[in-house]
Amino acid sequence: MKHLLKMLDLDGKEIIEILNLADQLKYEQKHGIPHKHLAGKTLGMIFEKASTRTRVSFETGMYQLGGYALFLSSQELQMGRGEPIEDTARVLSRYLNGIMIRTFKQEDVESLAKYGSIPVINGLTDTSHPCQVLADLMTVREYKNKLEGLKLCFIGDGHNMANSLIVGCLKVGMKVSVATPEGYEPAKSALDFAKDFEDFELLREPLKAAENADVLVTDVWSSMGQEEEADKRKKDFAGFQINEQTINAAKSDVMVLHCLPAHKGEEITYEVFENHAKAIFDESENRLHAQKAVMVKLMG
Ligand code: CP
Ligand code: NVA
Repeated sequence: MKHLLKMLDLDGKEIIEILNLADQLKYEQKHGIPHKHLAGKTLGMIFEKASTRTRVSFETGMYQLGGYALFLSSQELQMGRGEPIEDTARVLSRYLNGIMIRTFKQEDVESLAKYGSIPVINGLTDTSHPCQVLADLMTVREYKNKLEGLKLCFIGDGHNMANSLIVGCLKVGMKVSVATPEGYEPAKSALDFAKDFEDFELLREPLKAAENADVLVTDVWSSMGQEEEADKRKKDFAGFQINEQTINAAKSDVMVLHCLPAHKGEEITYEVFENHAKAIFDESENRLHAQKAVMVKLMG
């Protein structure tokens, strides 16, 4: 493993190895056991979009590992004035030990990895959010003590979260059902990967998708960069909500996850969110531990 660009790049065994290391690092952090695997190393964090969790968890994670993290807003880099990504990659590779990037196009993350000579971590693009899905899998395993055989149901937009969940969950032996409105299906790359799996379903009916689910997941109806479509999306996504009915359609011990930020009253009701807040905020916390594991694997 040289980079973390998307879930498709990892195999099931590598995912489990990251989760095992994440569990260990979480234990060490909770018990005050030093784990400075990245002493003297520096991570550059390029952000072309807003972030609370990704920025703070990477920066804190690097600090806990004995390293240093630099916040680089794309607007303040020469990249924001048009310096090509392939040149930025070659320059940053001379100073840093790793780069985390949050941007729009998946191709930009791939270019950074291609032209640079240091590990690149995808902190979210329009098509994938691998760090979030590693934290999600870590959280599911904490609550259910296993992954294989569990059914995860995603209701909502076939955007970055749906794409990465489909690939990540199928790779670790989970069943996946996805319900999206017409025109909001997951990316071709995720569907192409899923087509060989009997345990994958793409449906239009959220309640049917939720049947027998161990885990229910949703995400905002309008992602970063889609703000202008918000009104249309609210209409198109009506009914694609996790609510009391969805919970009743799933297994009685279903857990609910949300990558956050959430728009309560849209993709999830206030009540369902608050009833499952413990798992949702454990999921947020696990961003820290899962990403520390990724950084140790890539930069250690
Ligand atoms: N879930 C997530 O990536 O959160 P941020 O946008 O706050 O980083
Ligand atoms: N789908 C959301 C996820 C935010 C973490 C977005 O891309 O804005």
